[in-house]
Amino acid sequence: MRVSIVGSGYVGLVTAACLAEVGNKVLCCDIDSAKVAQLKNGISPIYEPGLDELLERNQREQRLDFTTNIEEAVNHAELIFICVGTPPKEDGSADLQHVLKVAQQIAVHMNGFKVIINKSTVPVGTGERVADEVRRTLIQRNTLHAFTVVSNPEFLKEGAAIDDFLRPDRIVLGTDETPAGQRALRMMKALYAPFQRHHERLMCMDVRSAELTKYAANAMLATRISFMNELANLAEKIGADIEQVRAGIGSDPRIGFSFLYAGCGYGGSCFPKDVRALIQTGEEAGENLSILRAVNSSNQRQKRVLVDKIIQRFGEDLSNMTFAMWGLAFKPETDDMREASSRTIAAELVLRGARVQAFDPVANETARKALDEDLATFRQDGPLLGHFEVTNTQEETLFNADALIVCTEWRMFKSPDFLMLSRTLRQKAVFDGRNLYDPALLADYGLIYEGVGRRA
Ligand code: UGA
Repeated sequence: MRVSIVGSGYVGLVTAACLAEVGNKVLCCDIDSAKVAQLKNGISPIYEPGLDELLERNQREQRLDFTTNIEEAVNHAELIFICVGTPPKEDGSADLQHVLKVAQQIAVHMNGFKVIINKSTVPVGTGERVADEVRRTLIQRNTLHAFTVVSNPEFLKEGAAIDDFLRPDRIVLGTDETPAGQRALRMMKALYAPFQRHHERLMCMDVRSAELTKYAANAMLATRISFMNELANLAEKIGADIEQVRAGIGSDPRIGFSFLYAGCGYGGSCFPKDVRALIQTGEEAGENLSILRAVNSSNQRQKRVLVDKIIQRFGEDLSNMTFAMWGLAFKPETDDMREASSRTIAAELVLRGARVQAFDPVANETARKALDEDLATFRQDGPLLGHFEVTNTQEETLFNADALIVCTEWRMFKSPDFLMLSRTLRQKAVFDGRNLYDPALLADYGLIYEGVGRRA
């Protein structure tokens, strides 16, 4: 089939590459001409395992192309995915200006029946707003074309996005009951046929339910994490070990093992933003989502948990201390620093006078920029900027370091040379924000160990 994708961010690129991979003719459109030029040269602007190969192969085999010309994209296909950003506004609600602008441009260039597919994470009711925008523009221009709006939220996890797209748990399609809506549903079913395995993955529902499903899934997962984080904090106080509790409850199939890991808080471009946006949707609808308010504030606190432990051990003034930090990205297999806990931790330490020497296998560069920005907002003169440094190797972070902080559970951090750590770290302390290590083993090496909810 022919498919156009507007927006070559994370969701748009992965969707484009995977739809091309199964044989569709995909044209991906972005207003950023530098990015489009880069993509045409086979350079991916984001780090995502497997994406580069897909981009290269499908461009070479002429199933995938990029353009800055929206008219070309609208003419290219009946199926047009909107994958542009929906950044949060001040009040936490999603800013739809880019989505609505694209809807308007689609209407301007429409040359026949179009299925407009919302793939960006958008609040309930956006399908109707997009339809209104298209209708309004068509009327203004005195043109008449049939169209329908479909909600097809994505459930990709960064770092595993290609696999999630090619082998999805579910494909949610929200369409309306009109003949155009039902025609679109048949087209979407055909488009997703190559991704159906073993049993029906398609969930067909109305547009509003599809839109809410996306937020509900992320909010549920964020709730599980915050719940476990709070239990972990309690476990520490009453002498229990959250890792044992996790195994104990996860074995109940009604609970399950995944997303039960306590740690130094969740981050990323989705959970924090989506939880806040859903709270805002609730507010607008006159519904107080009190559980989600608690999830959100609990997570803000959790990002500081390691800082509190460090202060408790070393005091408020950290001016003579150097911390090694392993892992900066909000999770492994990505260079994404959005709302990463490492930002809160590094900034708090630097503001107390400490030096932070950090290493992440892929996020060093994005982290340096993010931290420079964060620190600049605290101190206009920026005297502390040099206090946060990234190093080329994991080992270099340890140079003259007092303690080690683990923020991201990259596999390469899981079994370090503990003997070397205990010989190198001046204060022999490890603050493990992802519960990677066995407290007893670290004690064997004479290391002080502080995890999240662990019994020492
Ligand atoms: C999340 C969802 O998992 C995807 O299903 C969804 O499609 C995506 O958001 C989205 O809306 O686009 P992602 O943000 O890539 O995916 O990352 P996750 O793997 O879900 O991790 C989110 C955060 O939760 C990370 O900071 C991670 O460290 C933390 N986490 C995760 C925990 O603290 N504990 C856990 O048990 C699991």
